[in-house]
Amino acid sequence: MDLAVIYDSKSGNTAKAAEWIAEGMKSVEGVCARTFCIAEDPDTDFIKGAKGVVMGCPTYAGLMTPAMRDFLMGAGKLGLAGKLGGAFATQQYTHGGAELVIQSILVNEIVQGMLCFSGGGSCGRPIIHLGPVGVNDNVESFNGLENYREYFTVYGERFALKAKELFDR
Ligand SMILES: Cc1cc2nc3c(=O)[nH]c(=O)nc-3n(C[C@H](O)[C@H](O)[C@H](O)COP(=O)(O)O)c2cc1C
Repeated sequence: MDLAVIYDSKSGNTAKAAEWIAEGMKSVEGVCARTFCIAEDPDTDFIKGAKGVVMGCPTYAGLMTPAMRDFLMGAGKLGLAGKLGGAFATQQYTHGGAELVIQSILVNEIVQGMLCFSGGGSCGRPIIHLGPVGVNDNVESFNGLENYREYFTVYGERFALKAKELFDR
């Protein structure tokens, strides 16, 4: 079963988070996970065939990046309806707005007809309410993306297990 992680990233943080999600997905038997940067012409055939798609981007002024918004506006051609969807984001400040980014990506996914997954409290600890957030250490020395790695890998694994439960029959 194929799963895709689609992301925007300028300075590499969100790209790293995307790789961690894919790593978690690949830990589930029978799952092939690939990551795609929206600036690098994603493989639309792979995405169309994927049973689940997770999308993420950096937080810009408490919002998703303009590039991610543009990508989502043109996502009709990817046939996302009926796929499992998820979202993630990175930010620079602990209270920088990444959960708002995740929320708006999830809303866009619902509008496309996707079935959205967060795991929420149903999967136990670590509890991930809407999707995983990573905070870099550009400003807050007590932060650092590596501190959030497990949230992304665990989320990827949970997402893949749910996709298998739903679609791998
Ligand atoms: C134009 C711009 C606006 C940003 N706005 C926010 C913000 O509102 N909140 C925040 O926490 N970080 C903000 N950041 C920081 C980025 O979200 C953060 O560094 C992110 O991890 C960058 O991801 P990337 O390395 O994948 O490009 C902003 C960065 C830029 C360039």
